Amino acid sequence: MDMVFRLIAKERKRLREQLQLIPSENYASSAVMRAVGSVLMNKYSEGQVGKRYYQGNVNIDDVERLCKERALKLFGLDGDKWGVNVQGLSGSPANLAVYVALLEPGERIMSMFLPEGGHLSHGWHMPHKKVSFVSKIWDVEFYHVDRKTRVFDYDQIERQALRFKPKLLISGGTAYPREIDHKRMGQITRKVGAYYLADIAHEAGLVAAGVNSSPFPHADVVMMTTHKTLRGPRGAIIISRKKLAQKIDSAVFPGLQGGPHNHTIAGIAVCLAEAQRASFRHYAKQVVVNAQVLASELAAAGFDLVSGGTDKHLLLVDLRTIGISGWVAAWALEYANIIVNRNTVPQETASPYYPSGLRMGTPAITTRGMKEREMRRIAGWIVAVIEHSRKWVLPEGKQQRRLFAQRFHKRLAIDGTLDLIAKEVKRFARRFPIP
Ligand SMILES: Cc1ncc(COP(=O)(O)O)c(C=O)c1O
Repeated sequence: MDMVFRLIAKERKRLREQLQLIPSENYASSAVMRAVGSVLMNKYSEGQVGKRYYQGNVNIDDVERLCKERALKLFGLDGDKWGVNVQGLSGSPANLAVYVALLEPGERIMSMFLPEGGHLSHGWHMPHKKVSFVSKIWDVEFYHVDRKTRVFDYDQIERQALRFKPKLLISGGTAYPREIDHKRMGQITRKVGAYYLADIAHEAGLVAAGVNSSPFPHADVVMMTTHKTLRGPRGAIIISRKKLAQKIDSAVFPGLQGGPHNHTIAGIAVCLAEAQRASFRHYAKQVVVNAQVLASELAAAGFDLVSGGTDKHLLLVDLRTIGISGWVAAWALEYANIIVNRNTVPQETASPYYPSGLRMGTPAITTRGMKEREMRRIAGWIVAVIEHSRKWVLPEGKQQRRLFAQRFHKRLAIDGTLDLIAKEVKRFARRFPIP
């Protein structure tokens, strides 16, 4: 057997035996995987439905048309008012296509500050380094959460927008646990004459199910990834006001991409049909209930939940009050078969590689059928691992950290307490099937 298939089998085993609490991950259904692994990957189809630059696209046209129709139906949108593009290869290129379509180089973007939960593709830059290429092309300024509450103060965002006068205001991020007030964001953009891009990469499935509020009445463009709460293949959907749709289509192709990934578009079409079922709505509701139970269990154990809790699928824990680095905690949890993100937190005092927080989410474990009872058990293990790991203090200095890391991994591998929890978690996880 080709080594690659052995590695795939190993990854399947890992996905089954560990608890995946990374909020941007999920388990796509067997039907989605079948579509993505289909003959559609053989075809070139540059262009749009009914207007291709390649011959032989009768079936591809039908798949892409169906995918777009399903996207409109899922979000309850009128095809005369909204345009859909499903060709973006993933969330970051789809966001880039939106900027290319709506902005001239040098124009202004206002977006959420990355260390407080924003996203790289929204133009991340530091005073001494333009990290995202977006920040080399456009003039990007960030807005912040309130220092005390660690949630957005929309009056403050409005004052900043009136001063900075962006052409594009973006909401959405990777680690903000609260719902966005799309209505307010839409009002702000209209006041300053900007476009409003709602990036619901994370929340798409929750919005589709009506569990989080819809940005559609208020946004000019909505971008979503299809592989997070929407539970499809890796990809993106851009839905825009009809008057912007042509510009967005041209920015995707020929502006930024060549042939679309038709097998992915087919997988997206399958996941959009799945998301229309009542069972998906129950799933999305349970995702949020699970995240809230996990958050309240951790809070009861003395953990500092950023913003005090969550309205959605993810929670962010600031570990500074516990006195353990996010890096140490995330690795200790991985040895206990619990996979979370180490993450920056508002008013971060450490580096992104060794941040002060943990980000956790419930989309994947909820797909496996876990409910409130299971969340309580998982929270218990998380607390036990972190309490046990407080003794490991991350040193300062590059050299010292390298040495510490080497010894740390050896210690974790033979740690009796973690080993015991790892075995319990594995036994527990195996009871919940994956597609
Ligand atoms: C808010 C947000 N936007 C965009 C993206 C980019 O998606 P991708 O990783 O598919 O490029 C992500 C991914 O995590 C995200 O969270």
